[in-house]
Amino acid sequence: MSASDEIAARKNPVGLLPAAAAMAYPFILQAFHVTVSPAGGVLSSARLIGAALLLLAAFAMPLLGLGFAFRLTGLPHPTLFDLRVRRLAYASIAAPPLFVFTGVTLGILKLSVPDILVWILVWLVAGLSVWLGGSTPAPEAASRPIAGWRVAHGVAAAVIACFVLFHLTNHLFGLEGPQIHKAIMAAGREIYRAPLIEPVLVLLLLFQVTSGIRLAWRWSSVRVDGYRIFQIGSGAYLAAFLLAHLNSAFVSARAVHHIETDWAWASGAPAGLIHDAWNIRLLPHYALGVFFILGHLASGLRIVMLAHGVSATLANRFWIAAVVAAALISAAIISGLCGVRI
Ligand code: HEM
Repeated sequence: MSASDEIAARKNPVGLLPAAAAMAYPFILQAFHVTVSPAGGVLSSARLIGAALLLLAAFAMPLLGLGFAFRLTGLPHPTLFDLRVRRLAYASIAAPPLFVFTGVTLGILKLSVPDILVWILVWLVAGLSVWLGGSTPAPEAASRPIAGWRVAHGVAAAVIACFVLFHLTNHLFGLEGPQIHKAIMAAGREIYRAPLIEPVLVLLLLFQVTSGIRLAWRWSSVRVDGYRIFQIGSGAYLAAFLLAHLNSAFVSARAVHHIETDWAWASGAPAGLIHDAWNIRLLPHYALGVFFILGHLASGLRIVMLAHGVSATLANRFWIAAVVAAALISAAIISGLCGVRI
């Protein structure tokens, strides 16, 4: 096979699967909602199993994107098509927050277009532009053109991490009940809502989104190891999560609808996260948000550890332990939001 035949053969539609999976995402959530909301209100064991499987599928969808990113990163001599397919896989990881963003933004704009229609159109356009673009060999990435961005992203992350660790601890206390959650949030607001601090926090987050996209774009064009792929994928999720979360809290709740952004708002009261057709999208959105922010911070810390001479074995063990802890903390926060109390 000649080199050009080989490149043409690489243009495989399988690479578009993450976009198809993203299109299916709202339907999986709808199917979950129908399964957990029987007409008579009684949840049979068959429905319970079906609902658990559908929820699993909703979580598997963004993780499939991560799996594709793993699969597509090892290719030697990638073409421009290969790079687009790889980036599409990364983008599909962010489907849960992007779907929240879509729904909330249509609400803010008071557009009565079904969010699923907009959603499908966006992914169709993304898939088509990936497919129809050129497939010449990708140019070699420059060796280290982004050192400044990396340092700035890391420094901003250290400041943001202080807020995030407080914020997530605050949500963990939801397991104890809304009252204690409210008391801790009130104490935290004295600091993070202070007139001089809140705008700086928001600007730092927006900088983090921009610099993160810049870094992910660069790293997604080169061959990297599995740790780096997780770092890029979790970063892609977080960029969308932060935009969606700030849009929900600042624009939709506080500026447009004048809703108090308290426990009731976060937990989708009174209907809750699980039994409401709209709110169910918040469940994977929040759960993966907590998981990926902690996993992303751990990925950054692993790189810092390696740069400071810590052995690869120790740094990798730290990373694995942190990712397991991230999954457990995420499960605990989501359980609290869904009504579990200890
Ligand atoms: C289970 C997951 C999460 C839930 C339920 C949640 C909920 C909330 C709530 C209720 C607020 C309003 C706070 C207030 O009015 O004082 C808020 C604000 C905010 N959240 Fe989250 N959050 C979650 C995860 C995250 C994560 C992972 C980040 C990552 C950076 C984050 C960043 C922010 C920011 C920047 C604000 C705005 C703070 C401000 O009012 O100045 N959240 N979130």
